[in-house]
Amino acid sequence: MSRTIAITGATGFIGSWLAKRLASTGWHIKALVRAASLNKRPRDIEPEWITGDLGDIQSLEKLVAGAVAVVHCAGAVRGARQEDFDRINVDGVARLVKVAAEQKLPPRFLLVSSLAAREPQLSFYAASKRNGEKALALNAGNMFWSTFRPPAVYGPGDREMLPLFQWMYRGLAPLIGSDKNRVSLLYVEDLAAAMISWLQKAKHSERFYELHDGHQNGYSWQQIIAVIEGLNGRSILRANIPVPLVKLIAAVNLAGAKIFGRSPMLTPGKVRELTHSNWVADNDQLSSETGWVPKVMLDEGLRLTLGL
Ligand SMILES: NC(=O)c1ccc[n+]([C@@H]2O[C@H](COP(=O)([O-])OP(=O)(O)OC[C@H]3O[C@@H](n4cnc5c(N)ncnc54)[C@H](OP(=O)(O)O)[C@@H]3O)[C@@H](O)[C@H]2O)c1
Repeated sequence: MSRTIAITGATGFIGSWLAKRLASTGWHIKALVRAASLNKRPRDIEPEWITGDLGDIQSLEKLVAGAVAVVHCAGAVRGARQEDFDRINVDGVARLVKVAAEQKLPPRFLLVSSLAAREPQLSFYAASKRNGEKALALNAGNMFWSTFRPPAVYGPGDREMLPLFQWMYRGLAPLIGSDKNRVSLLYVEDLAAAMISWLQKAKHSERFYELHDGHQNGYSWQQIIAVIEGLNGRSILRANIPVPLVKLIAAVNLAGAKIFGRSPMLTPGKVRELTHSNWVADNDQLSSETGWVPKVMLDEGLRLTLGL
């Protein structure tokens, strides 16, 4: 009989890629899905769907029962208030970890955090990811666990980075902040492969793994734009947007979102994240421990993401 793994977030970008990859490696997958998101279930995989929410202990117990591993991908990436993020990224982690740790045979537990957790002072999101990591450590008991801190993840199905790459491909690149800022990136299939490597080969519990696409020292935005210029064969217009203007737009957007009850993406916290100077990650620990190496470089990843 195949081994059982429980995953969350399978209706989202990263979780759906993980589910596809796991299915092709023969795992029996149990996947949490919110009742309101049943129609978002990916059609190309057939896990055992467990209807429920991170706020509901009974569905979490059903999810992890019999699982030898849990990969927790679900998370809130948009919100207007600290509590919008904490409810899912902190309380949700604590609840799932407790349920997993209480199993007779506790599963291996992998939390998908974020490189943003390195800088919790920047935004509600970043603070919630750091506190989610703490909630894991606090509630894990003797369970074997690790945390992944991916940088910006991109690939087909992504909704956050794609519009920016599409603008650039069409010929206009909005630039915010200093030219010296650097970011690491990771193609989504490489992240899914890294998770599988962790499941199969990780030797040490209580580790925090940063990840990137193999491009040492990350990219400047000028380098990313140059790669897209190489794909479409023409030059892209750079438009420097003054940071105070973006901050103003973000503040208005946030105020509007609070009034109308929306979950905004562009907030003052997101602007602080976007203009942060150093989002460079380090692969060494995961690669040396599991042998994982990223395969998809930026030009290939962007070609696949843009559907070229
Ligand atoms: N994308 C990136 O660049 C990136 C980078 C670093 C880290 N991360 C982390 O990776 C994780 C996944 O990100 P993503 O880009 O795949 O986000 P996404 O596409 O927005 O997916 C989020 C997933 O979480 C689920 N979810 C949210 N609240 C839930 C709740 N209360 N109960 C159960 N499920 C819930 C969503 O379910 P519904 O479909 O029902 O909404 C969805 O499946 C997040 O933890 C994020 O912080 C992402």
